[in-house]
Amino acid sequence: MKKYTYSNLEAAFAGESQAFMKYSIFADKAEREGLKEVARLFRAIAFAEKVHATNHLRAMGKIKDTAINLQEAINGENYEVVEMYPAMDAVAKLQEEKSAERSIHYALEAEKIHEVMYNDAKKSVESGKDIPEANVYVCPTCGYTVIGEAPDECPVCGLKKEKFIKF
Ligand code: FE2
Ligand code: FE2
Ligand code: FE2
Repeated sequence: MKKYTYSNLEAAFAGESQAFMKYSIFADKAEREGLKEVARLFRAIAFAEKVHATNHLRAMGKIKDTAINLQEAINGENYEVVEMYPAMDAVAKLQEEKSAERSIHYALEAEKIHEVMYNDAKKSVESGKDIPEANVYVCPTCGYTVIGEAPDECPVCGLKKEKFIKF
């Protein structure tokens, strides 16, 4: 693919991805406001944006086999862990931006675990196996992620076990 077109698709993928996420979050908010039908509209259009993002990613040739996708995911999480979030954390501290500091800290702690989980998954897939069947729990406050069982309290933010979301 020609470079100019490729970078256009990269930008479009980023935009559609953000729209998907934003609309999904706005849907949750509309639901909390009791606006069920607006929530439905946000969710439907979020899905349409996901379709666009998927098509762009496919057109760029970036949807590969799972072992390769896992390596791509490892690279992304690792960049966030070793470079992006530590640097952002330092700036937030310097600028005394408390809420940014918290959201960055929450993300950094979860991404460390994500990288490890993806690494383990990649080893499994490369040896020809799926990972063992188990529930995955996510803290809806900070994104802390755990395979198997939720902890009594989230080690990052302290949220109680019952509040964890099961996948
Ligand atoms: Fe779109
Ligand atoms: Fe992550
Ligand atoms: Fe948490």
